[in-house]
Amino acid sequence: MSAPARPHDPPARRALSANEVSADLLNGQSRALLHALHLLTPDGKLNADARRKLKQINHFAGLLRPALHTALDLAEPLTLVDAGTGNGYLGLLLYELFIGPAGAGEVIGLESNGQLVDRATSRARHMGFDRMRFVATRVAEFDPIARNLAVVALHACDTATDDAIALGLRREAKVVAVVPCCQAELAHSLSAVRADHALAPLWRFPILRRGFAAHLTNVLRALVLECHGYQVTVTELVGWEHSFKNELILARKVQRGNSQARNQLKALLQLFPGVRMGLLDAWGPDA
Ligand SMILES: C[S@@+](CC[C@H](N)C(=O)[O-])C[C@H]1O[C@@H](n2cnc3c(N)ncnc32)[C@H](O)[C@@H]1O
Repeated sequence: MSAPARPHDPPARRALSANEVSADLLNGQSRALLHALHLLTPDGKLNADARRKLKQINHFAGLLRPALHTALDLAEPLTLVDAGTGNGYLGLLLYELFIGPAGAGEVIGLESNGQLVDRATSRARHMGFDRMRFVATRVAEFDPIARNLAVVALHACDTATDDAIALGLRREAKVVAVVPCCQAELAHSLSAVRADHALAPLWRFPILRRGFAAHLTNVLRALVLECHGYQVTVTELVGWEHSFKNELILARKVQRGNSQARNQLKALLQLFPGVRMGLLDAWGPDA
């Protein structure tokens, strides 16, 4: 049984009865999919945790809508890759809202855990989503052949977000949209920077280092995308609940490259000698 809402719980944290659920649904979003995803209980209620998840994927879909519509309007059918798909929540929703109604294109969910792939595959079959498939692979090892590509990733762990960005860059995706998870790579390399470096107090304490590294990592991700001709926005996904895991980096390909962003990235990196990030090795200013 789910815990009763406390009087001071903000509305988004409250469970919803079956009659109230419609208020949280997007146009075109079915209760059948939410049942298949076990977000709705068998009697149609939405408990507080499921409601938080639903809010994340719905906001993601809403913020992505304009960029996806532009990609869907192109002559080539859209291939949409959901990297680190887990239970497939986001990919299945994007199929239901965009790729299904478009009548062409496909959704591919990438997931390293084979059991999750099997489960998500049966959900897609159950829903009759016949242009959707899940592949048991690490994101970095997948190379889609698609002329019109969008890559999304919601809380893909650690460097899997960067692998999703790299996949988008490699294949010149029209849209790359990621909400990163915790990121340890850069925090680790910051701890190796000399303690007498003028900026070292910014990351002296582990908790501040994690926060600073998460911030710097997302700044670098945005700049890398800009260097490669993307127009980038970074916005909040859902509200205050998810703190460091709540930034949506949304990038649309608008030009071949951007020398101003490249210079900015170079200048920024000069301030942080010794900082290492795989994405920079492959796609940084000197790549
Ligand atoms: C925190 S879950 C998020 C799942 C889903 N995107 C969501 O928001 O519900 C991250 C998922 O990414 C998968 N994952 C982590 N690293 C991966 C990688 N390098 N390649 C593919 N999948 C990965 C994990 O197995 C896990 O299922």
